[in-house]
Amino acid sequence: MTQNDSPLSLLRRLSNGLYVVGVAHGIKRGGFTAAWITQVSFDPLLVALSVNPGHASFPLLTGAGAFAISILGQGQLELARHFGTQTGRSIDKFATQRWQPAAGGAPVLSDAIAYLDCRIVACHPAGDHELMLSEVVGGAILTEDVLPMNYAETGNLDGSAALYPPRF
Ligand SMILES: Cc1cc2nc3c(=O)[nH]c(=O)nc-3n(C[C@H](O)[C@H](O)[C@H](O)COP(=O)(O)O)c2cc1C
Repeated sequence: MTQNDSPLSLLRRLSNGLYVVGVAHGIKRGGFTAAWITQVSFDPLLVALSVNPGHASFPLLTGAGAFAISILGQGQLELARHFGTQTGRSIDKFATQRWQPAAGGAPVLSDAIAYLDCRIVACHPAGDHELMLSEVVGGAILTEDVLPMNYAETGNLDGSAALYPPRF
């Protein structure tokens, strides 16, 4: 068996969905596209979000201790681009979108196929990211007929191809 395929080509074969993480803290609102979200427990109902601590949204997440996950559907690449290829440091990315607050206050995209309302229960360093273990405390399906989007459909929209080591 050969063992010389690149980390990029191998890791791109992991299946991920695509999401917009929305957060509100004080008068500030933020949001970013994320692929690294996965369920990790049934009871309690926990998901893990892996977030780059350099993001403008990061201090809002730690300050609020809560966020909402808007689950994107197939064909919503432009939403992924809007939230994932520019920083919200000096703009409100939700200003041009239809959104509503979840019970915890975090913004949810009205055009998402579903959302999860999450409370952060623990943070843990994970290399160049921070892992936010979060309890899902609510949510709703917003449209029944659209399948979830896959990270693979975004190609190299996040520019991450350059971040993988060329070999193991
Ligand atoms: C397809 C795609 C997937 C992404 N996945 C993640 C992710 O899982 N975690 C993360 O921290 N950033 C991820 N990003 C990067 C952020 O969305 C991006 O850097 C964003 O502009 C940060 O916004 P902010 O600075 O306003 O918080 C992804 C971007 C794209 C385009």
